Amino acid sequence: MTGKSIIPPSPSEETYAVHEDQGEVFTKDDPFALFGEWLARAGETEPNDPNAVALATVDADGLPNVRMVLLKDFDMRGLTFYTNTESAKGTELVQNPKAALCFHWKSIRRQVRFRGDIMPVSPEEADAYFATRARSARIGAWASAQSRPMEGRFALEKQVAAKAAQFGIKEVPRPPHWSGYRLIPTEIEFWVNRPFRLHDRLQYKRASKDAGWVKAHLYP
Ligand SMILES: Cc1cc2nc3c(=O)[nH]c(=O)nc-3n(C[C@H](O)[C@H](O)[C@H](O)COP(=O)(O)O)c2cc1C
Repeated sequence: MTGKSIIPPSPSEETYAVHEDQGEVFTKDDPFALFGEWLARAGETEPNDPNAVALATVDADGLPNVRMVLLKDFDMRGLTFYTNTESAKGTELVQNPKAALCFHWKSIRRQVRFRGDIMPVSPEEADAYFATRARSARIGAWASAQSRPMEGRFALEKQVAAKAAQFGIKEVPRPPHWSGYRLIPTEIEFWVNRPFRLHDRLQYKRASKDAGWVKAHLYP
């Protein structure tokens, strides 16, 4: 390769030294509580969307796919996101209802990964979340045939106008093709940057959603 690389060089000894060690970060034993603490911390430092997360799925040929979504809820049951169920991800999740999620917060140099089964949220839960969205976003959910070819931007704008006219001043209900999924983790891994790439990794694994967590520290 010739010319100046746009890939930053590896840090020098001095640069490593300024990445101050973060001290104790595995401050809670329960992985959901620990995740909550890290997410709240990221919320104070990320420039936007600390809840943005890469969602990995696998298609019918076994080819992985990955894209960002927004985490909308999490509790002991799992992590919830919303989408068009007829999108590429929606189709893949029907064929293979398993997924992985990966958060990376640059501002605090931490990563959290989840793997597990996917369950659709209940219609009531999806309705309740849909109702909190801005009216224009609710109309957008009706107008967008997510992941399918679009003739041009105008085709989308026409759909938005048509749906806005159809609903008028009436409530905009949740479209049948729009809902949420919950990832029920059987594996959660916390990663924190340490100087000289001697990072810390803490993994939680359980045999099923009802089993207890087994903890292990992993080599970086
Ligand atoms: C930060 C960020 C957040 C996003 N959040 C969502 C989301 O919550 N739901 C969604 O369907 N798409 C979301 N998207 C768009 C997806 O990344 C993707 O383009 C879309 O869902 C189609 O993906 P698919 O064709 O693999 O189904 C987001 C994109 C970005 C960059």
